[in-house]
Amino acid sequence: MLGAVSCAGGGCESTAARYRPLATANVADIVARTHVRRGKGRSIAARRPTTATDLSNGFEGRAMSKMKVGMIGGGGPANFFGAPHRRAILMDNSAELAAGALRSNPDEALASAKELYFTRGYRDWKSLVADESKLAVGERVDYVTIVTPNDAHFGPAEAAAKAGIGVVCEKPLTMNLAEAKSLYQTVKQHKTPFVVAYTYTAFPMVMFARRLVLDGAIGEVRKVEAWYPQGWLASKLETEGQKQASWRVDPSKAGASGCGGDIGTHAYEFIRFVTGKTALRVQARLKSFVKGRALDDDFTVLAELDGDAVATIAASQITIGAQNDNGFRVSGTKGTIEWSITEHNALKHLEAGSPVKIYRLGAEYGYIPESIKPYVRVPSGHPEGFHEALANLHRTIEWTIRASRGEKAPKPFELPGIADGAAGMAFIEAAVASSKQEGAWVPVASIE
Ligand SMILES: NC(=O)c1ccc[n+]([C@@H]2O[C@H](COP(=O)([O-])OP(=O)(O)OC[C@H]3O[C@@H](n4cnc5c(N)ncnc54)[C@H](O)[C@@H]3O)[C@@H](O)[C@H]2O)c1
Repeated sequence: MLGAVSCAGGGCESTAARYRPLATANVADIVARTHVRRGKGRSIAARRPTTATDLSNGFEGRAMSKMKVGMIGGGGPANFFGAPHRRAILMDNSAELAAGALRSNPDEALASAKELYFTRGYRDWKSLVADESKLAVGERVDYVTIVTPNDAHFGPAEAAAKAGIGVVCEKPLTMNLAEAKSLYQTVKQHKTPFVVAYTYTAFPMVMFARRLVLDGAIGEVRKVEAWYPQGWLASKLETEGQKQASWRVDPSKAGASGCGGDIGTHAYEFIRFVTGKTALRVQARLKSFVKGRALDDDFTVLAELDGDAVATIAASQITIGAQNDNGFRVSGTKGTIEWSITEHNALKHLEAGSPVKIYRLGAEYGYIPESIKPYVRVPSGHPEGFHEALANLHRTIEWTIRASRGEKAPKPFELPGIADGAAGMAFIEAAVASSKQEGAWVPVASIE
């Protein structure tokens, strides 16, 4: 049922029309009525409302409430990535979809929130942040998930951080490095729980690769190859009304790099996440193979990393048949680690003169570190994949928030945060500049 709510701070025009499904109120009423003590002249007013804690029967977990998650973007029938995030948020039954500003058109945003069973729907992200931040902790959203096109990441992320609301933000973090640096400072200042949705880093075997490499299993890192070819933009799909293609080839919505910003950032984050290294300078060649495109559909970068290592980052959207193939190979002084999404529950470890060692996913296997086990949901041999990885990003922010409140939660694995998002923008900006200068070496700016 739609209805207006009060506005404060002068934002009446953007005030949300919010709704609470009748079912929510009814269930609360029923619970309260069922547990009321009978007789002895107690009035209705004197009866204490029953809370989840009252019903816990000593089961500690019940005392904690579900994470209340807001979503910005991700609505409408033609949308892509909102739905995987919603599945991921709900996967562990520890969170609920509390508030949504799901589309750019206010009426469609409200309709979409209702259709997708969000507790509260908002006309736009400004009203969501403004109104939610007036609610008490425990009632308001604990964090928002931003799943809009790239031009609408910075605004809601900054507003949420300033309002004390956590953020899971899609990549690329922002439209440009200036926005990214500014957001980085805001998030640092407000100590905002912040995760950047580099989905592939949250596959358990990629997390394991990070542990192995940082613990020295392959010695000093010398070289990283990171790849992410796709083929879906090999023809001019944007002229056929395909929504995801349309904004991805538009610099005013996507930023200064098309393919690089969209998937080159994923490949670059493999390097930072698995090796802990960062690019110091790059030589890049960005190309638009499809005529008339303002942005690159092919992105090739050579990078010098700290510690005298080198990397190649190859992303493409014109590699017909490549589907969503992405992965990395890290070579060190003692061996090589290799992972590909084509066999994502395995991790190869190669050493000179020895048979290839293949680790397989399984929380019961002794070699999987304790820090990763809470991110594995089923016994070995039962495939876990893309949605679980996305859910792992949400687990990290959830456990970070719960721990900050003194609630019991597993230790969150250090999945990518604001610094990684900002570093991704510094990398993209340097790559664009290098390509414009015919592949000259361009330093990658610091995010500080
Ligand atoms: N991490 C990953 O693996 C991954 C995968 C796909 C997409 N993405 C990222 O997710 C984001 C969305 O991509 P997509 O493919 O789902 O795009 P999409 O075009 O399918 O969906 C964008 C959604 O945002 C809504 N929207 C647009 N402007 C808005 C605004 N100002 N306020 C509220 N809602 C608004 C649209 O109505 C739509 O529902 C992009 O940043 C993209 O890079 C990440």
